[in-house]
Amino acid sequence: MITQKIKNDLNLKSLGYLDRRVPPKNQLIKEIIRLKKEKNAVILSHYYQKNEIQEISDYLGDSLYLAQKASKTKAELIVFAGVHFMAETAKIISPQKKVVLPDLKAGCSLADSCPPKEFENFIKTIPNSYIVTYINCSAKIKALSDIVCTSSNAEKIINSIPKNKNIIFAPDKNLGNYLIKKTGRKMTLWNGSCIVHEAFSLKKIISLFQKYPRAKFIAHPESESQILDIANFIGSTSALLNYVENNNSKTFIVATEAGILHEMKKKSPNKILIPAPVEDETCACSECSFMKLNTLEKLYLCLKHELPEIIINNNLIKAAKKPIEKMLSLS
Ligand code: 13P
Ligand code: SF4
Repeated sequence: MITQKIKNDLNLKSLGYLDRRVPPKNQLIKEIIRLKKEKNAVILSHYYQKNEIQEISDYLGDSLYLAQKASKTKAELIVFAGVHFMAETAKIISPQKKVVLPDLKAGCSLADSCPPKEFENFIKTIPNSYIVTYINCSAKIKALSDIVCTSSNAEKIINSIPKNKNIIFAPDKNLGNYLIKKTGRKMTLWNGSCIVHEAFSLKKIISLFQKYPRAKFIAHPESESQILDIANFIGSTSALLNYVENNNSKTFIVATEAGILHEMKKKSPNKILIPAPVEDETCACSECSFMKLNTLEKLYLCLKHELPEIIINNNLIKAAKKPIEKMLSLS
């Protein structure tokens, strides 16, 4: 019998034997478009991807939008330009489709901060709780959940839970604390976080305000509470984009992954957009190094060879699908 492990090993091993030649830069995009048509493929891209990947995608959006597109697409092949948990979610929602990710190492610090065995033990300590998990987690964690949420629908999801239920929320403690404040619900939080959204410097953001006193400061709810406390607006990536587009202010300081600035500039060309400064000046901390592992070249290769593929066993798909579908029906 071919086990899940053998399938995954074959998937990874075959990568080593691939023809890794790519067309010259000036033909790369043309070739990607040609292959996409030939294979009836669709490219889904998150706002944190490199600009050139955002540009070539069929659908560009936040986690919720991309999950919705993955559930509805008629394409046979989904090329997920994002990180592993996103591609995994697409496979869980559309198991009959082939889902590929340009770089299998494109992980997520937040998803990694919640190992399934430890989480399983954690939820046993508070029996009969309602388990809400942020979509940034592995399929195994989703399978242990009652419902999944994203940053765009988290408040609505929490408000839909009967008041007599104790809620366990994982893995993001920052989003969890924000939701406690917004909804007034008591929740037991898993102690996870995103390295990118924890890198912002409160001191430097405050001194930026001295330079741009009329600027609006906007932040993603994965940021720490002292950052969120001074924000004029808090929202998911798509909510931040809409806010900038519809707000009359001229200048915005933006606390989320820097990739979003590409679409923000396109949607709001006349506004001044300043990425929120980070603590450590020696690194590009506001860039998600996992998201940035995907390149146009890797995207071409994965479209051409239909590898690396996301493979999940059927039982896990079945268990993880329920809480995702529940979320989609409420969104
Ligand atoms: P959204 O796409 O829900 O805004 O989340 C941002 C994020 O960190 C994805 O990894
Ligand atoms: Fe994960 Fe943070 Fe990167 Fe989003 S930005 S994929 S939460 S590490």
